[in-house]
Amino acid sequence: MEPDPGDAPVARPARQFDVARATDTARWQFLSAALRNPGQIGAVTPSSAQLAALLAAVVPRAGAPVVVELGPGTGSVSAAIDARLPAGARHLAVELDPVMARYLRRTRPGLEVVEADVADLAALLVERGVAHVDAIVSGLPWALFDVQTQQSVLTQVGAALGPHGVFASFGYVHALPMPAARRFRDTLREMFDEVMATRTVWRNLPPAFAYVCRRPAAV
Ligand SMILES: C[S@@+](CC[C@H](N)C(=O)[O-])C[C@H]1O[C@@H](n2cnc3c(N)ncnc32)[C@H](O)[C@@H]1O
Repeated sequence: MEPDPGDAPVARPARQFDVARATDTARWQFLSAALRNPGQIGAVTPSSAQLAALLAAVVPRAGAPVVVELGPGTGSVSAAIDARLPAGARHLAVELDPVMARYLRRTRPGLEVVEADVADLAALLVERGVAHVDAIVSGLPWALFDVQTQQSVLTQVGAALGPHGVFASFGYVHALPMPAARRFRDTLREMFDEVMATRTVWRNLPPAFAYVCRRPAAV
């Protein structure tokens, strides 16, 4: 009997298959980190490509910028930043979770992965000879930090950026009425002269937006 062509395995283009497999691996890594340490990760799935692109929009496309990412996780925002960076740029990523840091080193060879706490941002930039940063992009779960930690990290962010740098961080739409999210927004307004909220990215789980902040008040 002739074999039914419907039984033949469907060939997928190699690249499409690799991208799908890499995305699944990243999602699995992220979920297992979230289950291992929910109080540090603050989400169950990585940012979508749409949210990542919105956050990365603050990254300069020209010159030799220095960009610092806070809480890169499995690197969804790192990928969007890399897509914009010109040759000669420097991209550091500060990640506390050792498993995520190892995953980033394996999957993103161009990234300077710093396995550390963002609470020590100023010191770790000095150690790496970074005197000035053009853009800082955060994926941190700010609502899980107390106010003192938020202020301390944002003060170090402002000092690293100086008057011309830009800071971007995401917020979840559903969390906006909650006290922790309102407190973080108020803290941002205290720490920067300009705080703008972007449009909502609905294609993210959960829907999110970005704060884009300029001119740190204390600089
Ligand atoms: C909500 S996830 C975001 C991951 C990624 N940026 C994304 O958008 O998919 C938060 C990340 O921040 C990291 N993180 C939390 N607290 C941190 C800290 N104090 N220092 C450095 N990274 C931290 C977590 O380990 C996690 O990878």
